[in-house]
Amino acid sequence: QVTPEIVAGCQELILTDEQIQTYMTTFLDNIQRGLKKETHPTAIVKCFPTYVQDLPDGTESGKFLALDLGGSNFRVLLIELDGGNCQMQSKIFVISQDLMVGPGTSLFDFIAQCLAEFSIEHGVAAETLPLGFTFSFPVMQKGLTVGILERWTKGFSCDGVVGNDVAQMLKDAIARRGDVNIDVCAVLNDTTGTLMSCAWKNRNTRIGLIVGTGTNGCYVEKQSEAELFDEPDMGSGNVIINLEWGAFGDDGALDFCRVKYDVDIDKRTINPGKQLHEKMISGMYMGELVRLAAERFTKEGYMFEGKGSEKLFTPDSFETKFVSEIESDPPGTYVNIKKICDGLDLINATEQDFVNLRFLCECISKRAAHLVSAGLIVLMRKIGEKKVAVGIDGTVYKYHPHFHNLMVEKIKQLIEPDYEFELILSEDGSGRGAALVAAVAARVKSKPT
Ligand code: BG6
Ligand code: GLC
Repeated sequence: QVTPEIVAGCQELILTDEQIQTYMTTFLDNIQRGLKKETHPTAIVKCFPTYVQDLPDGTESGKFLALDLGGSNFRVLLIELDGGNCQMQSKIFVISQDLMVGPGTSLFDFIAQCLAEFSIEHGVAAETLPLGFTFSFPVMQKGLTVGILERWTKGFSCDGVVGNDVAQMLKDAIARRGDVNIDVCAVLNDTTGTLMSCAWKNRNTRIGLIVGTGTNGCYVEKQSEAELFDEPDMGSGNVIINLEWGAFGDDGALDFCRVKYDVDIDKRTINPGKQLHEKMISGMYMGELVRLAAERFTKEGYMFEGKGSEKLFTPDSFETKFVSEIESDPPGTYVNIKKICDGLDLINATEQDFVNLRFLCECISKRAAHLVSAGLIVLMRKIGEKKVAVGIDGTVYKYHPHFHNLMVEKIKQLIEPDYEFELILSEDGSGRGAALVAAVAARVKSKPT
């Protein structure tokens, strides 16, 4: 049994149906504001048109390079599409903390260096391959190949990039080297990559969702609704909208359900006051939310003998992956949780402490799952199709043992019964997605109008 004082203290983390309704109404209102020309400049949820108008039909083919920056790994990929087949080779490179907050040109020089190394290794350096650049930050697109960075998120903060075209910065860095040639034919967000990648196999896919280091969603919208999108209709009448929903709440709209831990985390980040929705949900913050709750209940005397440990009281010592590991222990067993507590120098932790700590993890991860579920319901209703598949990627969704089920349960509870939905884990979403965006763009371009 969880200690009653802890149960009582965690009530604030459990979203009531009423709070979820408020969330949904406000979120829809934010989307409308982001889509409309008049309100877009001051809108919090930016709803950027991606210039991706068509979904894949499975006939895409060709050889592509892709860069994937902004998640837990930076990767370079070589992808070959051939009818329904996709072959992929990729390499992970580590972006150091210094690069994440250093000058923008250093970051792009590093990316170009990785691309050159990879191209040489794979024997494609002499070819001019089309490249899709998955750049998972808020980008205002001016076309499929032009993306202006609006702001950094997720711990990045490189000088000289905000306000600039990231595709151009990449091209400049490649030109500075002079040893590889590429044709940047698409800049895209990871949500778009995920949607495209799922749509390639599942034709009902209309939404892409990331619950990883950050969180965000995109969906297929009618061009008539997307007032910022000023390109001719190439036939589908649609365009994918990158919501940038991580910023939801930056105007105080989520204050009704934010708690002290949310406020404390935000203060310590390099972007205080920004990405408040993201900070309640995503992997960059989830472990720390649990740690703050554990610190509170320890100091109140309800956990770890009221003493805890220095590690437990050290910011960021409780990794998000611990949440998944702890919740993976079958109920009543304490294998992972014991190891984690030992690692945090909580060697005298009792079974009661384990039960309590697991409860904190469950409250925080459930709140995150319920928030993204509420967001998805708003999108499903907005799209209006009664059968929708959602492509999902990201370490939290992938590795948390119950996140998927928590979402399915909540969505079923709240959505009208005539909606059929499927939540699909996207396997290697953004890499293949980048190639698909490039391939679909080529197909649409060559289509007679
Ligand atoms: C991956 C994508 O599959 O999911 C990344 O390739 C994306 O581009 C990521 O950012 C999100 O997950 P995480 O947890 O790595 O941020
Ligand atoms: C952040 C980024 C967004 C991205 C998301 C998931 O919210 O701003 O572009 O899609 O993280 O990676």
